[in-house]
Amino acid sequence: MCGIVGYIGKDNAKNIVINGLKRLEYRGYDSAGVAFIDSGELKIFKKSGKIRNLEFKLNKDLSLPHVAIGHTRWATHGEPNDINAHPHTDCSGKIAVVHNGIIENFTELKKSLENRGHKFKSQTDTEVIAHLVEEEIQKGKNLQEAVLSAVAKLKGSYAAAVIYEGEPDKIVCVRKDSPLVIGIGEGENFIASDVPAFLSYTNKVIFLNDNECAVVTADNVQIFDLNGHKVEKEIKKIPWSIAQAEKGGYKHFMLKEIYEQPKAIADTISGKLSIFEKKNEKILTNFDKIQIVACGTSFHAGLIGKFFIESISRIPVSVDYASEYRYRNPIIDKKTLIIAISQSGETADTLAAVRLARKKSAKVVAICNVIGSTITREADYTIYTHAGPEISVASTKAFTTQLAALFLFAVEVAKVRKTIDEETENKLLNELSEIPKKLKTFLDSENEKKLIRNIALEFYNSQDALYLGRFVNYPIALEGALKLKEISYIHAEGYPAGEMKHGPIALIDEKMPVVVIAPKDRVYEKIVSNIEEVKARKGKVIAVTNANCPEIKKLADFTIEIPTTEELLYPFLTVVPLQLFAYHIADFLGYDVDQPRNLAKSVTVE
Ligand code: F6R
Repeated sequence: MCGIVGYIGKDNAKNIVINGLKRLEYRGYDSAGVAFIDSGELKIFKKSGKIRNLEFKLNKDLSLPHVAIGHTRWATHGEPNDINAHPHTDCSGKIAVVHNGIIENFTELKKSLENRGHKFKSQTDTEVIAHLVEEEIQKGKNLQEAVLSAVAKLKGSYAAAVIYEGEPDKIVCVRKDSPLVIGIGEGENFIASDVPAFLSYTNKVIFLNDNECAVVTADNVQIFDLNGHKVEKEIKKIPWSIAQAEKGGYKHFMLKEIYEQPKAIADTISGKLSIFEKKNEKILTNFDKIQIVACGTSFHAGLIGKFFIESISRIPVSVDYASEYRYRNPIIDKKTLIIAISQSGETADTLAAVRLARKKSAKVVAICNVIGSTITREADYTIYTHAGPEISVASTKAFTTQLAALFLFAVEVAKVRKTIDEETENKLLNELSEIPKKLKTFLDSENEKKLIRNIALEFYNSQDALYLGRFVNYPIALEGALKLKEISYIHAEGYPAGEMKHGPIALIDEKMPVVVIAPKDRVYEKIVSNIEEVKARKGKVIAVTNANCPEIKKLADFTIEIPTTEELLYPFLTVVPLQLFAYHIADFLGYDVDQPRNLAKSVTVE
């Protein structure tokens, strides 16, 4: 949510920051801006809308600065217009600030600054930081001291970067509850909210922790605590390549990421899961219940994880929306294991759930895709998914790799607790290891590709859609509906198919597409009956099923055929046609598939 980029070094800082912002556009895209110091003078350019609008505005600017900061915004305080776009400046126009997060006490800070003569230009909370820094500099402090004094007055969350005309050789940044990472180059350094912003220059990074401040020059990076004491930090190497963060010939990142799933799942299965090392065996035995917390698509993975863990390891699991968890006073104790699922590792609600659980002495296992992200640093153990960078706002490969991590976890817990024998363990793991191949076969099938596009063509003008599933595919109905809503703006609902007659059946008429997820599993006959009920009301049925299901073929208007697998593993295969269906509908409608309106990739505010 909001992306920050900064560069200091020998090259054209303005261009590097703009390129970095483009790579972070998925974090927010309602306005963007850049500030740089050129020939001793601070310049700021801002523009509402996408980064290309800002680029257009910058076209006429010929300066070649060596220090710049930039921002892509997802509005919280103040509407998305040119004035509210970051960077913000002080009264003198010599200080520029970009900020990600929310300053909760900004109204009172603004009032007192105004009483002391400060004039504000925007409605944002961020602008108070610029004015607070200005006051401290006027008292004789240097930029670093001024930033530390200013942030001492802030309540809320921030990742902020500041440049100052009076000290043009540095960027000073601070973080609390919002991500910030520093990229280490040679004779140049970078700052960003997320690694892809500078991945084409360096994969050596320092993750800033909460309440740390960095002073970044072209040749040096120094980290301090908020009292100004130096902190030693480790430089980490990120195993991602820039090719992974590019479209690679696909029209959209979403499509590329859908097609990357076989590899991403295979990488996750073969990845090093250190939690399962012998020395950690105690973690897997020392709890009697599990609570899964997550948001959005990760929450849907959690719902499927419940099936995996309860079926295979026989441990009771509850699954909560992280945004609800802390308000329901959950029963957490030392014997509770929390599994926090988050692609980004930065989702504010999931992080708050982790903090609550740890305060109540529960152990936390994170399932996460981003190395070094906040949730991985706060959890007791992390199972990394190896999806590579997920750029499209709509999550696809993160979801299926989360499923892989959850399945491996369920099998490992069952093995350690001896709820399954060796033969069952091998059978389950063998079936899982077959999934990437099966998925690839499906994704490579020209027939299925054509079919899904044709179905999308048939329904892209629909107003509503219903998704039905049962058992382990009920959460897939929720996920299919979420994908359609978020990128095509068509109203869609996911329902357990058996619940249909308790209400949603009233919606069905000859115009209503009903997507039914119906592989050959224990509830197959039941869901065939549900399809009959839909057809009796003239609904249009799109069924996702296996090849040898003549009952469904006879009833459904369209039948998408997926490969056969062990029944618990079907979600890996059934979700993919639904991702493609939503993708093609959004594409036919001409929408911005990778950056749907009102959304941001990582939701770092509550
Ligand atoms: C939907 C989507 C969101 C995220 C949710 C959680 O396609 O991407 O619903 O799943 O915001 O994000 P993470 O997993 O980063 O915590």
